[in-house]
Amino acid sequence: MSEQKKVIFSGMQPSGVITLGNYLGALKNWTNLQEEYNCLYCIVDMHAITVRQDPATLRKNARDLLMLYIAAGLDPEKNIIYMQSHVSAHAELAWILNCFTYMGELSRMTQFKDKSNKHSDNINVGLFAYPSLMAADILLYQTDLVPVGVDQKQHLELTRDIAIRFNNAYGETFRVPEPYISKVGAKIMSLQEPTKKMSKSDEDINATLSILDDPDTIVRKFKRAVTDSDAAVRYDELQKPGISNLMTIYSVITGMGMDQIEAEFEGKGYGDFKLKVAEAVTEELRPLQEKFKALSKDKAYIDTIIKKNAETANYLATKTLRKVQKKVGFPPVMR
Ligand code: TRP
Repeated sequence: MSEQKKVIFSGMQPSGVITLGNYLGALKNWTNLQEEYNCLYCIVDMHAITVRQDPATLRKNARDLLMLYIAAGLDPEKNIIYMQSHVSAHAELAWILNCFTYMGELSRMTQFKDKSNKHSDNINVGLFAYPSLMAADILLYQTDLVPVGVDQKQHLELTRDIAIRFNNAYGETFRVPEPYISKVGAKIMSLQEPTKKMSKSDEDINATLSILDDPDTIVRKFKRAVTDSDAAVRYDELQKPGISNLMTIYSVITGMGMDQIEAEFEGKGYGDFKLKVAEAVTEELRPLQEKFKALSKDKAYIDTIIKKNAETANYLATKTLRKVQKKVGFPPVMR
Protein backbone atom coordinates (compact mmCIF):
# COMPACT_ATOMS: atom_id res chain seq x y z
CA MET A 1 0.00 0.00 0.00
CA SER A 2 1.24 3.44 -0.81
CA GLU A 3 2.11 5.36 2.33
CA GLN A 4 0.79 8.75 1.26
CA LYS A 5 -2.75 7.71 0.45
CA LYS A 6 -5.40 7.64 3.13
CA VAL A 7 -6.82 4.27 4.14
CA ILE A 8 -10.45 3.41 3.53
CA PHE A 9 -12.01 0.33 5.11
CA SER A 10 -15.49 -1.06 4.69
CA GLY A 11 -17.23 -4.39 4.83
CA MET A 12 -20.39 -6.21 3.91
CA GLN A 13 -21.92 -9.30 5.36
CA PRO A 14 -22.13 -12.29 3.03
CA SER A 15 -25.71 -12.94 3.99
CA GLY A 16 -27.64 -13.26 0.76
CA VAL A 17 -27.07 -11.62 -2.59
CA ILE A 18 -26.61 -7.90 -2.38
CA THR A 19 -29.38 -5.58 -3.39
CA LEU A 20 -29.71 -2.65 -5.74
CA GLY A 21 -29.66 -0.57 -2.54
CA ASN A 22 -26.26 -1.95 -1.47
CA TYR A 23 -25.01 -1.43 -5.00
CA LEU A 24 -26.20 2.14 -5.60
CA GLY A 25 -25.69 3.18 -2.00
CA ALA A 26 -22.25 1.68 -1.43
CA LEU A 27 -20.54 -0.59 -3.93
CA LYS A 28 -20.87 1.67 -6.97
CA ASN A 29 -19.32 4.55 -5.03
CA TRP A 30 -16.46 2.40 -3.79
CA THR A 31 -15.27 2.01 -7.37
CA ASN A 32 -14.63 5.77 -7.48
CA LEU A 33 -12.27 5.63 -4.52
CA GLN A 34 -9.74 3.13 -5.77
CA GLU A 35 -7.30 5.62 -7.31
CA GLU A 36 -7.28 8.18 -4.56
CA TYR A 37 -7.19 5.90 -1.50
CA ASN A 38 -5.78 2.64 -0.24
CA CYS A 39 -8.97 0.65 0.08
CA LEU A 40 -9.77 -2.53 1.95
CA TYR A 41 -13.11 -4.24 1.45
CA CYS A 42 -13.77 -7.07 3.80
CA ILE A 43 -16.31 -9.84 3.49
CA VAL A 44 -17.35 -10.14 7.11
CA ASP A 45 -18.17 -13.83 7.42
CA MET A 46 -17.35 -13.75 11.13
CA HIS A 47 -20.04 -11.14 11.68
CA ALA A 48 -22.44 -13.20 9.60
CA ILE A 49 -22.47 -16.13 12.04
CA THR A 50 -23.90 -13.94 14.80
CA VAL A 51 -27.16 -15.20 13.33
CA ARG A 52 -27.52 -18.81 12.20
CA GLN A 53 -26.17 -19.57 8.73
CA ASP A 54 -26.23 -22.67 6.64
CA PRO A 55 -22.52 -23.52 6.12
CA ALA A 56 -22.72 -24.32 2.41
CA THR A 57 -24.76 -21.19 1.74
CA LEU A 58 -22.41 -18.99 3.74
CA ARG A 59 -19.42 -20.36 1.84
CA LYS A 60 -21.11 -19.66 -1.48
CA ASN A 61 -22.37 -16.21 -0.47
CA ALA A 62 -18.90 -15.16 0.68
CA ARG A 63 -17.31 -16.18 -2.58
CA ASP A 64 -20.13 -14.67 -4.63
CA LEU A 65 -19.78 -11.40 -2.75
CA LEU A 66 -16.07 -11.28 -3.54
CA MET A 67 -16.88 -11.86 -7.22
CA LEU A 68 -19.59 -9.20 -7.11
CA TYR A 69 -17.11 -6.68 -5.73
CA ILE A 70 -14.86 -7.37 -8.70
CA ALA A 71 -17.73 -7.53 -11.18
CA ALA A 72 -18.94 -4.13 -9.97
CA GLY A 73 -15.58 -2.66 -10.88
CA LEU A 74 -13.33 -2.99 -7.84
CA ASP A 75 -9.93 -3.91 -9.20
CA PRO A 76 -8.52 -6.69 -6.97
CA GLU A 77 -5.01 -5.49 -7.76
CA LYS A 78 -5.77 -2.03 -6.39
CA ASN A 79 -8.15 -2.86 -3.55
CA ILE A 80 -7.60 -5.41 -0.83
CA ILE A 81 -10.70 -7.55 -1.12
CA TYR A 82 -10.62 -10.41 1.35
CA MET A 83 -12.41 -12.74 3.75
CA GLN A 84 -12.45 -11.64 7.39
CA SER A 85 -12.01 -15.22 8.62
CA HIS A 86 -8.75 -15.51 6.66
CA VAL A 87 -7.08 -12.95 8.88
CA SER A 88 -7.02 -14.26 12.43
CA ALA A 89 -5.83 -10.89 13.74
CA HIS A 90 -9.48 -9.74 13.55
CA ALA A 91 -10.50 -12.24 16.22
CA GLU A 92 -7.40 -11.60 18.29
CA LEU A 93 -7.77 -7.84 18.34
CA ALA A 94 -11.52 -8.15 18.91
CA TRP A 95 -10.77 -10.06 22.12
CA ILE A 96 -8.47 -7.37 23.39
CA LEU A 97 -10.97 -4.65 22.45
CA ASN A 98 -13.70 -6.56 24.28
CA CYS A 99 -11.72 -5.84 27.40
CA PHE A 100 -11.92 -2.11 26.59
CA THR A 101 -15.61 -2.01 25.75
CA TYR A 102 -18.33 -1.71 28.36
CA MET A 103 -21.45 -3.83 28.63
CA GLY A 104 -23.41 -0.60 28.90
CA GLU A 105 -22.08 0.66 25.58
CA LEU A 106 -22.91 -2.54 23.76
CA SER A 107 -26.38 -2.67 25.32
CA ARG A 108 -27.16 0.70 23.81
CA MET A 109 -26.47 -0.35 20.22
CA THR A 110 -29.71 -0.13 18.26
CA GLN A 111 -28.66 -2.90 15.87
CA PHE A 112 -28.20 -5.24 18.85
CA LYS A 113 -31.64 -4.33 20.16
CA ASP A 114 -33.24 -4.85 16.74
CA LYS A 115 -31.49 -8.13 16.10
CA SER A 116 -32.22 -9.53 19.56
CA ASN A 117 -35.89 -8.78 18.96
CA LYS A 118 -35.75 -10.51 15.60
CA HIS A 119 -33.75 -13.52 16.79
CA SER A 120 -35.02 -13.79 20.34
CA ASP A 121 -34.24 -17.53 20.42
CA ASN A 122 -30.55 -16.87 19.76
CA ILE A 123 -29.26 -13.79 21.54
CA ASN A 124 -25.66 -14.96 21.63
CA VAL A 125 -22.54 -13.27 22.98
CA GLY A 126 -21.25 -12.77 19.44
CA LEU A 127 -24.29 -10.72 18.54
CA PHE A 128 -23.67 -8.60 21.62
CA ALA A 129 -19.95 -8.18 20.88
CA TYR A 130 -20.53 -7.56 17.17
CA PRO A 131 -19.42 -3.89 17.45
CA SER A 132 -16.05 -4.68 19.06
CA LEU A 133 -15.26 -7.07 16.20
CA MET A 134 -16.22 -4.31 13.80
CA ALA A 135 -13.92 -1.95 15.71
CA ALA A 136 -11.12 -4.49 15.33
CA ASP A 137 -11.76 -4.68 11.56
CA ILE A 138 -11.35 -0.96 11.22
CA LEU A 139 -8.56 -0.30 13.72
CA LEU A 140 -6.27 -3.10 12.51
CA TYR A 141 -5.54 -1.22 9.29
CA GLN A 142 -5.00 2.26 10.77
CA THR A 143 -8.06 3.32 8.81
CA ASP A 144 -8.66 7.00 8.11
CA LEU A 145 -12.13 6.80 6.59
CA VAL A 146 -15.04 4.40 6.79
CA PRO A 147 -17.84 4.65 4.22
CA VAL A 148 -20.94 3.52 6.06
CA GLY A 149 -24.63 4.14 5.94
CA VAL A 150 -26.54 5.79 8.76
CA ASP A 151 -27.41 2.41 10.26
CA GLN A 152 -23.71 1.83 11.02
CA LYS A 153 -22.92 5.31 12.34
CA GLN A 154 -23.42 4.25 15.94
CA HIS A 155 -20.96 1.38 15.54
CA LEU A 156 -18.40 3.74 14.04
CA GLU A 157 -18.85 6.17 16.93
CA LEU A 158 -18.18 3.33 19.35
CA THR A 159 -15.10 2.34 17.33
CA ARG A 160 -13.78 5.87 17.77
CA ASP A 161 -14.50 5.80 21.51
CA ILE A 162 -12.67 2.50 21.92
CA ALA A 163 -9.68 3.74 19.90
CA ILE A 164 -9.44 6.95 21.92
CA ARG A 165 -9.80 5.04 25.19
CA PHE A 166 -7.00 2.66 24.23
CA ASN A 167 -4.76 5.48 22.99
CA ASN A 168 -5.28 7.38 26.23
CA ALA A 169 -4.33 4.36 28.29
CA TYR A 170 -1.30 3.15 26.28
CA GLY A 171 -0.21 6.04 24.07
CA GLU A 172 -0.86 6.57 20.37
CA THR A 173 -1.68 3.14 18.93
CA PHE A 174 -4.71 3.43 16.68
CA ARG A 175 -5.63 6.03 14.13
CA VAL A 176 -9.07 7.32 15.05
CA PRO A 177 -11.29 6.78 11.99
CA GLU A 178 -13.80 9.24 10.54
CA PRO A 179 -17.00 8.41 8.67
CA TYR A 180 -16.71 8.89 4.92
CA ILE A 181 -19.75 10.66 3.60
CA SER A 182 -19.99 10.11 -0.11
CA LYS A 183 -20.89 13.03 -2.35
CA VAL A 184 -23.23 10.98 -4.48
CA GLY A 185 -24.37 8.14 -2.22
CA ALA A 186 -28.04 7.32 -2.39
CA LYS A 187 -30.34 5.68 0.07
CA ILE A 188 -32.58 3.25 -1.78
CA MET A 189 -35.84 2.29 -0.13
CA SER A 190 -37.93 -0.88 -0.18
CA LEU A 191 -40.04 -1.26 -3.33
CA GLN A 192 -42.99 -2.38 -1.21
CA GLU A 193 -42.66 -0.12 1.84
CA PRO A 194 -40.85 2.92 0.48
CA THR A 195 -40.43 4.54 3.89
CA LYS A 196 -38.16 1.64 4.92
CA LYS A 197 -34.63 1.08 3.67
CA MET A 198 -34.20 -1.69 1.08
CA SER A 199 -32.73 -4.57 3.05
CA LYS A 200 -31.37 -7.88 1.83
CA SER A 201 -32.86 -9.60 4.86
CA ASP A 202 -36.39 -8.47 3.93
CA GLU A 203 -38.67 -11.49 3.72
CA ASP A 204 -40.78 -9.98 0.94
CA ILE A 205 -38.83 -10.74 -2.25
CA ASN A 206 -40.75 -8.04 -4.11
CA ALA A 207 -39.40 -5.42 -1.74
CA THR A 208 -35.81 -5.83 -2.82
CA LEU A 209 -33.98 -6.20 -6.05
CA SER A 210 -30.93 -8.42 -6.18
CA ILE A 211 -28.19 -7.15 -8.44
CA LEU A 212 -28.25 -10.57 -10.08
CA ASP A 213 -31.98 -10.46 -10.94
CA ASP A 214 -32.69 -11.10 -14.62
CA PRO A 215 -34.39 -8.48 -16.83
CA ASP A 216 -37.88 -10.04 -16.55
CA THR A 217 -37.70 -10.09 -12.78
CA ILE A 218 -36.51 -6.50 -12.75
CA VAL A 219 -39.48 -5.39 -14.88
CA ARG A 220 -41.90 -7.37 -12.75
CA LYS A 221 -40.60 -5.95 -9.48
CA PHE A 222 -40.72 -2.37 -10.73
CA LYS A 223 -44.22 -2.86 -12.11
CA ARG A 224 -45.31 -4.00 -8.67
CA ALA A 225 -43.46 -1.26 -6.82
CA VAL A 226 -45.74 0.60 -4.43
CA THR A 227 -46.54 4.16 -5.51
CA ASP A 228 -49.45 6.50 -4.81
CA SER A 229 -52.77 7.41 -6.39
CA ASP A 230 -51.73 10.80 -7.67
CA ALA A 231 -50.40 10.21 -11.19
CA ALA A 232 -47.57 12.74 -11.43
CA VAL A 233 -43.91 11.82 -11.55
CA ARG A 234 -42.83 14.39 -8.99
CA TYR A 235 -40.20 14.27 -6.26
CA ASP A 236 -41.73 14.52 -2.81
CA GLU A 237 -40.18 12.22 -0.22
CA LEU A 238 -42.94 12.74 2.34
CA GLN A 239 -46.08 12.68 0.22
CA LYS A 240 -44.79 10.41 -2.56
CA PRO A 241 -42.10 8.14 -1.08
CA GLY A 242 -42.58 5.37 -3.66
CA ILE A 243 -42.23 7.56 -6.73
CA SER A 244 -39.43 9.53 -5.09
CA ASN A 245 -37.53 6.29 -4.50
CA LEU A 246 -37.90 5.27 -8.14
CA MET A 247 -36.77 8.74 -9.16
CA THR A 248 -33.70 8.42 -6.94
CA ILE A 249 -32.82 5.13 -8.60
CA TYR A 250 -33.31 6.63 -12.05
CA SER A 251 -31.34 9.73 -11.12
CA VAL A 252 -28.33 7.87 -9.70
CA ILE A 253 -28.11 5.69 -12.80
CA THR A 254 -28.71 8.32 -15.49
CA GLY A 255 -27.11 11.25 -13.70
CA MET A 256 -30.25 13.31 -14.37
CA GLY A 257 -31.53 15.78 -11.81
CA MET A 258 -35.02 15.47 -10.33
CA ASP A 259 -36.40 18.39 -12.35
CA GLN A 260 -35.06 16.86 -15.56
CA ILE A 261 -36.78 13.61 -14.70
CA GLU A 262 -40.01 15.42 -13.88
CA ALA A 263 -39.81 17.14 -17.27
CA GLU A 264 -39.13 13.88 -19.13
CA PHE A 265 -42.22 12.23 -17.66
CA GLU A 266 -44.53 15.24 -17.67
CA GLY A 267 -47.99 14.05 -18.65
CA LYS A 268 -46.93 10.40 -18.73
CA GLY A 269 -48.26 7.74 -16.38
CA TYR A 270 -46.50 5.70 -13.75
CA GLY A 271 -46.53 2.66 -16.03
CA ASP A 272 -44.25 4.35 -18.56
CA PHE A 273 -41.98 5.65 -15.87
CA LYS A 274 -41.64 2.29 -14.13
CA LEU A 275 -40.68 0.63 -17.39
CA LYS A 276 -38.05 3.27 -18.04
CA VAL A 277 -36.60 2.76 -14.57
CA ALA A 278 -36.56 -1.01 -15.08
CA GLU A 279 -34.78 -0.52 -18.39
CA ALA A 280 -32.16 1.78 -16.88
CA VAL A 281 -31.52 -0.66 -14.03
CA THR A 282 -31.25 -3.60 -16.44
CA GLU A 283 -28.71 -1.75 -18.58
CA GLU A 284 -26.75 -0.64 -15.53
CA LEU A 285 -26.53 -4.17 -14.18
CA ARG A 286 -25.91 -5.97 -17.48
CA PRO A 287 -22.10 -5.58 -17.61
CA LEU A 288 -21.83 -6.45 -13.92
CA GLN A 289 -23.89 -9.60 -14.39
CA GLU A 290 -21.86 -10.64 -17.44
CA LYS A 291 -18.60 -10.12 -15.60
CA PHE A 292 -19.95 -12.06 -12.60
CA LYS A 293 -20.86 -14.96 -14.84
CA ALA A 294 -17.41 -15.00 -16.40
CA LEU A 295 -15.71 -14.83 -13.00
CA SER A 296 -17.85 -17.71 -11.72
CA LYS A 297 -16.28 -19.89 -14.39
CA ASP A 298 -12.73 -18.88 -13.54
CA LYS A 299 -12.19 -20.71 -10.29
CA ALA A 300 -8.39 -20.63 -10.41
CA TYR A 301 -8.31 -16.85 -10.87
CA ILE A 302 -10.66 -16.20 -7.96
CA ASP A 303 -8.69 -18.61 -5.77
CA THR A 304 -5.52 -16.66 -6.53
CA ILE A 305 -7.18 -13.36 -5.68
CA ILE A 306 -8.49 -14.72 -2.40
CA LYS A 307 -5.07 -16.03 -1.44
CA LYS A 308 -3.07 -12.99 -2.47
CA ASN A 309 -5.35 -10.45 -0.84
CA ALA A 310 -5.55 -12.46 2.39
CA GLU A 311 -1.75 -12.42 2.54
CA THR A 312 -1.60 -8.66 2.12
CA ALA A 313 -4.33 -8.10 4.70
CA ASN A 314 -2.60 -10.49 7.11
CA TYR A 315 0.66 -8.65 6.76
CA LEU A 316 -0.90 -5.27 7.49
CA ALA A 317 -3.13 -6.48 10.31
CA THR A 318 -0.34 -8.31 12.07
CA LYS A 319 1.72 -5.13 12.28
CA THR A 320 -1.00 -3.41 14.33
CA LEU A 321 -1.83 -6.51 16.35
CA ARG A 322 1.80 -7.00 17.47
CA LYS A 323 1.96 -3.40 18.60
CA VAL A 324 -1.23 -3.79 20.62
CA GLN A 325 -0.14 -7.08 22.18
CA LYS A 326 3.09 -5.49 23.30
CA LYS A 327 1.31 -2.47 24.77
CA VAL A 328 -1.09 -4.53 26.88
CA GLY A 329 1.80 -6.57 28.21
CA PHE A 330 1.63 -9.92 26.44
CA PRO A 331 5.05 -11.59 26.65
CA PRO A 332 6.86 -11.55 23.29
CA VAL A 333 6.71 -14.72 21.24
CA MET A 334 10.09 -16.43 21.04
CA ARG A 335 11.17 -17.11 17.45
N1 TRP B 1 -21.59 -4.02 10.31
C1 TRP B 1 -21.50 -3.69 8.91
C2 TRP B 1 -22.89 -3.88 8.27
O1 TRP B 1 -23.65 -4.72 8.70
C3 TRP B 1 -20.50 -4.55 8.19
C4 TRP B 1 -19.13 -4.31 8.71
C5 TRP B 1 -18.39 -5.15 9.47
C6 TRP B 1 -18.36 -3.14 8.50
N2 TRP B 1 -17.17 -4.61 9.73
C7 TRP B 1 -17.13 -3.37 9.17
C8 TRP B 1 -18.59 -1.94 7.81
C9 TRP B 1 -16.13 -2.40 9.17
C10 TRP B 1 -17.59 -0.96 7.83
C11 TRP B 1 -16.38 -1.20 8.51
O2 TRP B 1 -23.19 -3.21 7.31
